Amino acid sequence: MVKIICVCGARPNFIKVAPLMHAFEENGGFDTLMVHTGQHYDENMSKRFFEELSIPKPDVNLEVGSGSHAVQTSEIMKRFESVLLDFTPDFVLVVGDVNSTIACGLVAVKLGIKLIHVEAGLRSFDRSMPEEINRLLTDSISDLLFCTEQGGVDNLIREGIPKEKVFLVGNVMIDTLLQNKTKADKSNILNRLNLNSDGFVVLTLHRPSNVDNHVVLDEIVNALEVIQYDMPIIFPIHPRTRSSFTSSSLDEHIKELPNVQLIDPLGYLDFLKLMSSATLVLTDSGGIQEETTILKVPCLTLRENTERPITTEIGSNQVVGTDPDKIIRAYRQAIDTDRRKYQIPPFWDGKAAERIAVIIASENRCGG
Ligand code: UD1
Ligand code: UDP
Repeated sequence: MVKIICVCGARPNFIKVAPLMHAFEENGGFDTLMVHTGQHYDENMSKRFFEELSIPKPDVNLEVGSGSHAVQTSEIMKRFESVLLDFTPDFVLVVGDVNSTIACGLVAVKLGIKLIHVEAGLRSFDRSMPEEINRLLTDSISDLLFCTEQGGVDNLIREGIPKEKVFLVGNVMIDTLLQNKTKADKSNILNRLNLNSDGFVVLTLHRPSNVDNHVVLDEIVNALEVIQYDMPIIFPIHPRTRSSFTSSSLDEHIKELPNVQLIDPLGYLDFLKLMSSATLVLTDSGGIQEETTILKVPCLTLRENTERPITTEIGSNQVVGTDPDKIIRAYRQAIDTDRRKYQIPPFWDGKAAERIAVIIASENRCGG
């Protein structure tokens, strides 16, 4: 038996651990403890994903909640240590690049427990992003590193990680998408939002560089003002972004735009249906750049860089920044593009979690 703790804490983590939990169960060789750090805690940022994706209820919830980076990270570390000492796993598995990822990873390696990082090697090469720091640090202390794209493998090797530790396995977030697409197709979200077949745009924003900076947020709203005259925009609004709007005069500006629907964050199935039916997606999310690649929906990434270059090299994604003129120009070009030309990255076939389970079981047998 492989004794393993699976860590999750924030919205994209739940979507990534779902197929891993299912693969460990199907494999039969795993004794798994699921730890939720409590980094995200609103019902529609957390509990709803467990229900919709049939993820077992977390065995432990550390209930850390929000705080500055130092407060949140240190609080997770303090609370996670006693769980590790009680359960004494062979491995701790962390996903993605959030504060919960590095906090739990650091506690594990300090106790001499092997660390597994799923979604390793991604780099934006922009150290002003908190996620980039979390990625670099987590990868540098991990024992097994599972990558979604060849660029991730190349980054790790360049950084001196021994190649025996690195595996290109595909993308667990895409496993979840493929497993749930048929179910999501039955969602009635389009009716609920009064959307017709004339097309619409989906928007998500939550990067601190976009939403905590009101000058940048203002630029984005100026671009939205033009686009919404052409097509309705549906904007499920992340809690960080909602607070930023309400603490500035931009709240009035966005609410005055007649064709922008501001809604609460959606559950996974409704969001998947919305995204897959959209004419175009505007986002600064990491995961959504990958999901739109599989769905062959044009995606404009409102950032200066991406850590997921394969989505721009062979897929539907374009990194456009936040200058309103550039966004509007890219929007006009993208809505006329033939979606059939987009390709699917290697191994994004719904089997990444299965591959990961097999490799972990074999490494455990070899004492690797
Ligand atoms: C975090 C991750 C980011 C990830 C994103 C996914 C870090 C450093 N950032 O950003 O990489 O892309 O999650 O969505 O780990 N809040 C609520 N309810 C919640 C959760 C958050 O109201 O359930 C509000 C709080 O005011 C909080 C703010 O959102 O201070 C930010 O939450 P936090 O988890 O610190 O960062 P995110 O912006 O969500
Ligand atoms: N998502 C969702 N509901 C929403 C917005 C996003 O279910 O209202 C899903 C989305 O499909 C993807 C994940 O949340 O699977 C992405 O999370 P987020 O953008 O918060 O984080 P990131 O990927 O940028 O770390």
